[in-house]
Amino acid sequence: MSDWLRERVMNFTFARGAIQQVPSALPWFEKLIIHNNVGCVLELGTGVGSLSVMFGILCPDRVITCDREDRLTRHIKSVLLRLGVDCVRGDLYDEGFRDLLMILINQVRINGQALLLLCDGGDKHKDFAMYAPRVLPGDVVACHDLASEFIPERSDILQIADNNKLERILVEEMNKDKTRLAVYKKRTAE
Ligand SMILES: C[S@@+](CC[C@H](N)C(=O)[O-])C[C@H]1O[C@@H](n2cnc3c(N)ncnc32)[C@H](O)[C@@H]1O
Repeated sequence: MSDWLRERVMNFTFARGAIQQVPSALPWFEKLIIHNNVGCVLELGTGVGSLSVMFGILCPDRVITCDREDRLTRHIKSVLLRLGVDCVRGDLYDEGFRDLLMILINQVRINGQALLLLCDGGDKHKDFAMYAPRVLPGDVVACHDLASEFIPERSDILQIADNNKLERILVEEMNKDKTRLAVYKKRTAE
């Protein structure tokens, strides 16, 4: 990781925990939620849970976050509990676990409102391949670590996006402020 990136990522905290995103990602997540009528969030990869807190503030009682490890402090755990964020433990790349997560998120989905899926687990391409095909028209998929751990131009990723009517949005805007997110929106039926 380059020095400027380490400085931006490692020293950035929210809700008393390190957030593993560049700071500009936070206002972008808020905009994505507001402008796409997002009512619930599925976060793949909780990390230390600070971003999950932000999602919980934006969509109380309608956030599911999952990780195979528990890195949450007591403080973050109690905040997430108050916000009704469901922290689920398991292996993201187990198909049965993926199916369970999709059932859980659909239980908190509000009719007519979209889901924001954040692909931020151990293998972002695999997150996208396994989970993005399960989203519904109007839903938004954001993949973290654009250009390092997630390459939208990879042929398998282009194919999945195309097969599932996932249209890349905000490319210029994310490039401009170096927000490391690749964002897709599933087209509604023509
Ligand atoms: C980059 S961190 C998530 C950061 C968090 N979303 C944030 O923005 O602060 C990635 C997380 O994915 C988890 N992870 C990696 N492989 C996994 C797997 N197979 N199943 C579940 N979680 C996994 C790691 O334990 C790690 O906490």
